[in-house]
Amino acid sequence: MTTEVTGTPDETVLEAQFADTIGRKDRIEPRDWMPEKYRKTLVRQVAQHAHSEIIGMQPEGNWISRAPSLRRKAILLAKVQDEAGHGLYLYSAAETLGATRDELTEKLIAGKQKYSSIFNYPTLSYTDVGTIGWLVDGAAICNQVPLCRTSFGPYGRAMIRICKEESFHQRQGYELLMTMMRGTDEQRASVQESVNRFWWPSLMMFGPPDDDSPNTEQSMEWGIKTHTNDELRQKFVDMSVPQAEALGVTFPDDGLKWNEERGHYDFSTPDWDEFWAVVKGNGPCNDQRVNHRKRAWDEGAWVREAALAFAENSAAGATDDAAPTDDTAPTNPATTAEEAAK
Ligand SMILES: [Fe+2]
Ligand SMILES: [Fe+2]
Repeated sequence: MTTEVTGTPDETVLEAQFADTIGRKDRIEPRDWMPEKYRKTLVRQVAQHAHSEIIGMQPEGNWISRAPSLRRKAILLAKVQDEAGHGLYLYSAAETLGATRDELTEKLIAGKQKYSSIFNYPTLSYTDVGTIGWLVDGAAICNQVPLCRTSFGPYGRAMIRICKEESFHQRQGYELLMTMMRGTDEQRASVQESVNRFWWPSLMMFGPPDDDSPNTEQSMEWGIKTHTNDELRQKFVDMSVPQAEALGVTFPDDGLKWNEERGHYDFSTPDWDEFWAVVKGNGPCNDQRVNHRKRAWDEGAWVREAALAFAENSAAGATDDAAPTDDTAPTNPATTAEEAAK
């Protein structure tokens, strides 16, 4: 399509081009024109997602110093570190929409932006690390795999790598629980107790029911979302039941049974009053999570200031001085040691 270059194109032409791109299931990129509401919806969703990754480091980070073995500690450290990385890719994606990380973090701390309500529940035992990996990262995978094809380019591309790492997170959780199920009666009881606590909050991770989710329809029209909350929740239940059977645990729901006609598992309605109470800030750990994030943000202010000052000085230096010669360039000790050994 050729448009005459006679100045700023008409808004209706731009809107038609935008709709056309979405219709072709092609991607909207940061420099493309987009409706202001599309941009705002994405900033809200990507920010909420980024905050969830960062706040989500806390419940499990709580157990790093108390891991039962060096192997478990290494796995948990790697997992929590992955979540930090996910947060950073997502804040970068939000930056391409014009929202800075500082601005988003300040909104999170002020309670103006949300994160997944699951992270407002406490981790009471090391077993919870396994349950979170299996159920919470499992629910995240159901939510996030379709987002790899979301209509905004930087968000979709960030999700591809995130999903690969989430799949490792789920496996390490399931493997931890499987190891415990092969252990003592006490360990098996601990797995069941942990699963009982996390099952319902995991189902709530998909958000409110479709008829109570005002943004879903528009987000689907824009190709931001490709499945509704209820569709994804059903998919998660169908996927988790056989895994629970293989593990030897049950879910705390008497209404959970296979429905031959629907070809899906039926399940009871989550307690949506509890969900809304937690979303509104009244969960068991809301204050603790946000206060911890605020403390880390405040205590890190000097690092951000120093990094900025260093970057400014380096930029000023680069224009004043000649580039460093090879003699002054830092040497890589690993390379030197390797060469010395030859
Ligand atoms: Fe993650
Ligand atoms: Fe994860």
